[in-house]
Amino acid sequence: MKWSSVLLVSAMLLGGAAVQGEEKPDERVDRLTQRALLSDPHPVRGRRLFGEHCAQCHGAKGFGDAEQGVPALAGQRFAYLVRQLANFAGDERDSATMHGVVRQPAIRGPQSWADLAAFLSQSAAAPRPQVGPDRGSNLGRGIFHEQCASCHGADASGDAEGFVPSLRHQHYGYLVKQMNKLAAGYRHNVDESLMLFLRSFDDNDISATADYLSRLQGPGTDRSKLLNNGVAVD
Ligand code: HEC
Ligand code: HEC
Repeated sequence: MKWSSVLLVSAMLLGGAAVQGEEKPDERVDRLTQRALLSDPHPVRGRRLFGEHCAQCHGAKGFGDAEQGVPALAGQRFAYLVRQLANFAGDERDSATMHGVVRQPAIRGPQSWADLAAFLSQSAAAPRPQVGPDRGSNLGRGIFHEQCASCHGADASGDAEGFVPSLRHQHYGYLVKQMNKLAAGYRHNVDESLMLFLRSFDDNDISATADYLSRLQGPGTDRSKLLNNGVAVD
């Protein structure tokens, strides 16, 4: 082999190694999410962590705080919760508040995300989330069933895999804010097509849909039939 070819081959190998070494932020989030999903979650440890690091904002029972713009977490899907904690940790979702939370040593690793998500996904959902001003309008119901239910489920409890969130038992103000933020691209790990799709709704559509969702009552899924990781048993 000529020297020039040796150099070429080494350059290719080195180049390949450099590309492999440079993990993109979204790939890192995917890898850490998968690691958390494959771990053995401990809901009891999750309950303790929640009491120490989260309850002051999200409430003792994870019902959130509508006035402060803090979302309800109780009853949310396991995989979705894990992924959002990974998103905050990897700067793939903006929130100065939550970035501060996941920088704490006890909340930094995938095992703690799995523990917290296991505890929260098994907890009873907020019974009376903040509702919107739009009682009686059918606009929100129509939009939801035509445009959103294919992903979020007809009862809005999210998809079976768990990465599409439940939109039940969530505060009206938070739902409005997140629809706007998803459309504005502040959640970087979200498909561009979903972002563009959400941009097609005006303020009135967003308010009506959030209002409809905030008024859904009763359990979407029988929580006694959930596995440790929040997945429903058939
Ligand atoms: C200082 C207040 C504060 C503390 C402490 C806090 N959070 Fe949050 N959390 C927030 C706020 C505010 C948001 C909304 C961020 C946004 O606008 O996207 C949020 C959002 C979230 C979300 C996204 C929910 C969704 O539906 O997408 C998750 C998950 C979450 N927090 C989990 C936790 C966990 C677990 C802890 C404890 C380890 C915790 N938070 C501690 C204030 C807090
Ligand atoms: C193509 C599938 C898809 C469609 C259609 C869709 N969504 Fe979503 N939605 C998602 C996914 C996936 C997420 C989670 C994004 C992430 O990981 O940050 C999400 C997140 C959300 C959130 C944030 C929830 C939270 O707890 O922070 C809201 C609110 C929401 N969607 C409302 C809607 C509404 C209202 C519609 C219909 C107008 C809709 N979505 C249509 C897939 C979809």
